[in-house]
Amino acid sequence: MLNLEDSKNEYFKFLEKISSRTGVKALSDYLIKHGLFEAPASTKFHLCSEGGLIIHLVSVTALALKLRPVLYPEATEETVILVSLFHDCFKATDGFGNKTYLKNTEAKERQPYLWNAEQLNYAGGHKSALIISKFVDLKQDEIQAIAYHDGPYTESWKDLMGNNNVYPLTHLIHMADLWSCWVVERNKNIKKFDKKFLEDK
Ligand SMILES: [Fe+2]
Repeated sequence: MLNLEDSKNEYFKFLEKISSRTGVKALSDYLIKHGLFEAPASTKFHLCSEGGLIIHLVSVTALALKLRPVLYPEATEETVILVSLFHDCFKATDGFGNKTYLKNTEAKERQPYLWNAEQLNYAGGHKSALIISKFVDLKQDEIQAIAYHDGPYTESWKDLMGNNNVYPLTHLIHMADLWSCWVVERNKNIKKFDKKFLEDK
């Protein structure tokens, strides 16, 4: 897994690859201004420290790009990078000037960050889709994948049922996100066998 400085460098390399897409540069500038490089990835779970979010976003993007040629070559590289790189941008800001996480100055050991109660009450993936849409004209499958990248962990996951759509881009991003969160980023307390498996990656 990358460290913070390497992740920032990787972020700008990915950004460059999609820089011809209208609005991407403005989106990036906005998110950096609102804490993209400082935000954690969670309150007390994966990468719950300063810079955790950008490490997570770069990790998911790298994984999604590895999955693309195998699972879903029909998706363009631009779409996969755009969706992966910003799927959790709601963890920096709600898009209305509020930070998502606040530093917990009282119980650092147990929970480094707290959920900011002042922020927009809206599902995370949906919030990311809302923020990105302010700058980039998203296609249908892109907005679907961003809003539902948490798959069955999204409260409104039943929205994905009941019709014939299989949403391959949504599943690809969900798998990359899940693998990054549960395998790549949480490799401290795993069994020896699994540790060896990760070291071989
Ligand atoms: Fe994520």
